[in-house]
Formats: sequence, structure tokens, C-alpha cells
Amino acid sequence: MKKIIDEKFLWGGSSSAYQIEGGWNADGKEPSVQDVKTYIPAGTTDFKVASDHYHHWKEDVKMMSEAGFRSYRFSISWTRVWSFKNNQPNQPGIKFYNDLIDELIKYKIEPIITMYHFDLPDFLQQQGGWLSRSTIDEFAKYAQLLVENFGHKVKYWLTINEQNMMALVPEAVLGQKATMKDIYQCNHHMFLAQAKAMKIVHQLSKSLVGPAPNINVIYPNTNTPDDYLAAINCANIRNWYYLDLPIFGKYNTIVLDLLEKNNSMFDIEKGDMEILTDPLAKPDFIAFNYYATGTVKSSDENNAVASKGGDQHSKSGVKGYFEQVKNPNLAKTQFGWEIDPVGFKTTMLELTTRYNLPLILTENGIGGYDELDANNEINDQYRIDYYTAHFKQMFEAMEMGVDLIGYNPWSAIDLVSTHEGIKKRYGFIFVNRTEDDLKDLKRYPKKSFYWYKEVIKNNGKNIK
Ligand code: BG6
Repeated sequence: MKKIIDEKFLWGGSSSAYQIEGGWNADGKEPSVQDVKTYIPAGTTDFKVASDHYHHWKEDVKMMSEAGFRSYRFSISWTRVWSFKNNQPNQPGIKFYNDLIDELIKYKIEPIITMYHFDLPDFLQQQGGWLSRSTIDEFAKYAQLLVENFGHKVKYWLTINEQNMMALVPEAVLGQKATMKDIYQCNHHMFLAQAKAMKIVHQLSKSLVGPAPNINVIYPNTNTPDDYLAAINCANIRNWYYLDLPIFGKYNTIVLDLLEKNNSMFDIEKGDMEILTDPLAKPDFIAFNYYATGTVKSSDENNAVASKGGDQHSKSGVKGYFEQVKNPNLAKTQFGWEIDPVGFKTTMLELTTRYNLPLILTENGIGGYDELDANNEINDQYRIDYYTAHFKQMFEAMEMGVDLIGYNPWSAIDLVSTHEGIKKRYGFIFVNRTEDDLKDLKRYPKKSFYWYKEVIKNNGKNIK
């Protein structure tokens, strides 16, 4: 059935707490793993001030409303709302998010909230992080705190941002490498934490909840049978492992086989599968982040590669299963990421045929160098071109039956990239600072801001 974009479609923008907020130790906030990161490259900012949204949130929401946003996807900082030191909620942090949510609602902007976006409390990391089962219960307690405080105002919850990227490129977000068994043990614990959180949302509120992995289709490098097998392997290891379990209640067998062959099967305790298959722990929708497709070739035992420098789109591979290669058919961003609008459509088609659930796009976008010109304007035509190409494919996907309920690109406002600083800008709104100079942190709408406003107003009908 065709889906038409109407006034209910959630056009918006996206962010995450540690990349936008700053105020890293303000009003009782305790450190997350991002605040204590030690491997930030020279010449790249840390996350202490970021875009200083903690002190500019009112103005930021007003600008989102001026652009006509109908939704805003952001994350809550766990260590802002819970004090591990005092073992109790941190009330100023709860107030911050209550005020932010109320302000969004005042402007008729639907909050879409990620519970956890790469910023595990350092307190928990010190006790073993996701390798420790106690983090599962801490996450459930945290989810309950969120739903009890904000659940009556929030219709859409997302559990964990890009669990698959944390597993595939652990050094990108966690700053450390890990063994295969440890990675999948962490994954198992995150699945349990997610299942408990989904059940809590369903039990305590009328809200909807879904996972938020990074999903893209995978191309074989050539039409050889071995490369096609590598593409299947990669798609299962990278994508489907993270959705099959919450949606079908079954672990993906291709990945279990990989773990057994590598002597890396994780431990499943008695009662775990009951938690994972609880009907109340099923997602209502799939939120997904899409940047570009992947291309892979077969990998023999000896040529597997590790991702480079913590970049999620650099080469990666799993020995004997696949090796990621460049796709010469695709253009690239200024930061070397491939651009594939058609892949956006095929990714949605594949998600729909496989899972048949509503979709919400929670990240898509282009990182580039933006600068204020002499008139204090920012001409980011390249961003408009990127979105135009993606919107055309998005409309076609919806015509073909994809039930997409919202589009929340990365990012609403300039923020600090996971590993490439503030110079890699993603926003519709420019934030006046550099890596080492905070300047005045003033906000300026970019050319794309005005363009996106027209798109939203016309529900995309002005895109030619
Ligand atoms: C997504 C993450 O993977 O990609 C975001 O959820 C991230 O947190 C975004 O910022 C863009 O990646 P990067 O590395 O350019 O910041």
C-alpha cells in the first residue's frame, strides 16, 4: 500500500547528548566514558563543551521550530539524571530534560528519545561495563527512571544507539579493542538490557519503543559466488543479528556459527532466553541510521582487516567471512564516506520485506567543512544536493510500500563528531566555534536550514 507524506510525517533532526550538550560536569552530572576518553586525536576537541546545548537549549528548540521541525531525536545522558555516587536520581538533570521536553511540546515538536547513545557511565565502565551482568540491571533501572519521569510526555523511545557499530568498531565509541567472545558477550548483555527496557516501556506507559541500529545493504564486490556469500555474511553479522533477536526472538544462526567456529560463543544463563522472547519486549518499530552502503569481497583466512582509526566507514572485516572494500561507483563526502542515495531506498526495502514493521529514520546526513562567509552566511549547497538525492529515493521507497513514519537526519545542529571533532559539521544550524576556540558559540541558520524548512512545509512536494 502506498504511503503518502502528510502532516503526520515526523520531519525533524537528530543529535546525541554527549556530542551536543557540553555541561559535562554541570549540576551534579557525573562522567561518562566519553568524558574520560584519553585517545582523542591531537587538534580535535573533546566533548566538555560541545555545542553547549546545555546552556542554549531554549534558543536551539526555537530555531528547530522556525525550521518547522515536527520531531527532534535526541538522547538522554545517563550520568546527568542518575548519580552513582549518591545512588539516587540527580534532580537538576531530570529537570533539564523535563524542561527540554516541555519546550519541544510547546512548539509541537515530537520528542524521540534515545536512552543510550555511546555514553555509558564511567562508574559502570570501571566495574566491567557491558561485560558485567550488573550493567543489565542498571540499564533496566535507568529505563524505569526515564519512563517514570518522562513517559507520559514521550511517545517514541529508542533503546540503544547503534549497538552494531559498538560491536563492529568498538574503538570508535569505546576507545578499546576487544576479543570476539567479549564483544558478543557484551552484545548479549545489551540485548537483555534492551529487552528489559522495552518491557518497562510497555508495562509503565502507552509509549512505543524500538532499537536504533545502523543499517545498510551490502553489495558483493563482483558477481562471483564467493563475493555474494561474503555479502550475505556481512549483512548478517553487521545488520540482521541486531534485529532478528528482538523481532523474531531467535539468535541469527549465521553469526552463532561464526562464533562457534572461532571458539567465541558467549555465555547464555538460565532465564535469558525467556527475557529475550517476552512478548512485551518486542519492538513496535525499527529506528535506523543510514549513511552509506557497504561493499565486500570474500576474505581468506589471512587477509582480514581491522577498521582504521575508529572510523565506522573505514575498512573492516571478519576473518574468513568478508572484507570491506571501496566502491568505485560511488561519490564520496569531504571526509571520504561513500554517498549512495539508491542504497537508502534498497535498505528500506530490505528492512520492510524482512521485518514488516514501521520505520523511523534516526540518522542520515553528510559531514563537511562549513564556514561563515563575509555576510555571516553558510552556503552548504553540497548538503542540499545530498538530501535532495536521498529524498527522491525515500519517496520512491514509500511508494513501493515502505511504512516510514519519520525522517530525522544527522544533525539538527552542528555537534562534535564521534572522532573527527567539530570541523566535521553535520547540522542545518551552524555553531560558531572551532576545535580549540569556543568563540561565541552563536547559532546561524545555514542555507540548508531554509531549504529544509521549505521541504517540510511542502511535505517534500517541492523536491524535483
Ligand atoms: C552515527 C552515530 O554512527 O554516525 C553518531 O550514531 C555519529 O553518533 C554519526 O556522530 C556520524 O559519525 P561521525 O563519526 O562522523 O561522528
